[in-house]
Amino acid sequence: MAEAKTGETTTTIDSTVSTGGVFLLVALLMLLGQACAASGSSDGNTSPSSVSVPLIDAANAGPSPSTSTPTGPTTTAGVPFHQRVPVLPEVPFSYDTELPDHFFSAVSEEMGRLAVVQFDSTDLENRVTDAGAALGRVLFYDVNFSRGRSVACGSCHLQSSSFTDSTQFSLGVNGFTRRNSMSLANAAFNLDGRFFWDERAAILEDQVLMPFADPIEMGLSVDEVVQRAESKSYYRPLFEAAFGDDHVNADRIRRALAQFVRAMVSVNSRYDEGRAQVESAVEPFPNFTDEENRGKELFITSQSDGGAGCAACHTSEAQLLGTTGPLNNGLDALSVNDLGVFETTGDAHHLGAFRVPSLRNVEVTAPYMHDGRFRTLDEVIDHYDEGVQPHQNLSGFLLGDTGRPVRLGLSDEDRAALIAHLETLTDPTFLTDERFRNPFVQN
Ligand code: HEC
Ligand code: HEC
Repeated sequence: MAEAKTGETTTTIDSTVSTGGVFLLVALLMLLGQACAASGSSDGNTSPSSVSVPLIDAANAGPSPSTSTPTGPTTTAGVPFHQRVPVLPEVPFSYDTELPDHFFSAVSEEMGRLAVVQFDSTDLENRVTDAGAALGRVLFYDVNFSRGRSVACGSCHLQSSSFTDSTQFSLGVNGFTRRNSMSLANAAFNLDGRFFWDERAAILEDQVLMPFADPIEMGLSVDEVVQRAESKSYYRPLFEAAFGDDHVNADRIRRALAQFVRAMVSVNSRYDEGRAQVESAVEPFPNFTDEENRGKELFITSQSDGGAGCAACHTSEAQLLGTTGPLNNGLDALSVNDLGVFETTGDAHHLGAFRVPSLRNVEVTAPYMHDGRFRTLDEVIDHYDEGVQPHQNLSGFLLGDTGRPVRLGLSDEDRAALIAHLETLTDPTFLTDERFRNPFVQN
């Protein structure tokens, strides 16, 4: 109830923002943008981190571990995020990303025999349109859709981190999430029934409404979400462009969000560039160093043939889950705190088994695993090299000939090569693509 009041107050403030106020706001944003651009160029790099902007406004975040005081200078020039108006291009961006040829071809036995496009779980009734994704983008970054108006989807799914979070657990409206946030890159290619670490969401259209109602993440009922969208005048033209009239409802919100998430297609890594120049993933790539090619060989080659066998589970040209279902990769000998997909299915074979995540952009998605236990790729390689535990459901792909957890015994060179290869999966275009940026922040 108290919350509903806050909502009304905010709406009043919004509707009293005069045109002059909007200009002032835009001017402030531009100043901020220049400051960001300057700081980005001063160290001469355009690395993804230089465009990452904090989503939670210190002055408005409520009780949070933030150190800024409400009266002190803030990085957002004092305009709380929940009062901002998104700045969008006059003509919507095109969200149609051309897929490379190798997404259409079935690859080797080791890489999985299905082509990436065969994993495409797009609902044919909800294909991505430019106007639909443009609306989804605004919904995704709008902090008004959380109880204290401080958290948006984009708070826990940061573009510079391939739309995962850079912390072990993510701060929602009521404490921290139980698991590590997941990258949304190439989510369109998750088979149906494979969303979340425990695969509890069947399709993306179902998944995208869950965070709103989650008491930790955003804490609003779906009705409240609809009301808040109705109360912001900038949504009307966006709904009209996407759906033909400006009527706001939950179904349209879920469709638009699903479209935006599905539009997040990552196809411009050095891996893709190299793959486009050869007949098969197994051949050395001309654009790779010897070390990167060695790492790729280790990644693809099975353990019995002297490789590291990663591609057995991180399959296909998008390094995502194959058709094998959830797996246990031996993080713990016993599952105690988190029972994984068993929590969804109740099937004993799924105890301690988790969705195999895609390794696209893995260089920037730290920390790693469902509980974010590993801080670096070095720690991940340590795990596969010598740390795999004898869990009752440990995947056969990580069992050695003796029936015990595999010990790879990698040399220092091979460890470095594997990491070098993983880093070729980074797609800088995707991490900075303006089509996916926060429209409430101007760079
Ligand atoms: C407070 C942080 C937080 C917020 C806010 C949040 N997420 Fe997430 N998201 C997570 C975490 C943590 C997971 C993994 C949860 C799990 O598996 O149990 C996740 C998982 C997902 C997944 C599954 C990806 C996959 O490959 O299975 C999608 C899609 C997603 N979020 C989209 C969204 C959208 C859309 C919103 C806004 C409506 C949103 N998230 C808001 C933290 C958050
Ligand atoms: C038996 C199947 C299997 C094999 C083989 C395998 N993985 Fe995994 N991998 C998984 C599963 C399952 C997870 C998620 C586990 C979890 O969080 O509980 C995972 C998670 C990861 C992650 C964390 C990604 C993230 O977003 O948090 C990285 C990195 C990774 N694997 C790299 C590798 C590398 C490198 C190899 C080869 C040395 C490899 N994997 C071999 C199944 C496998």
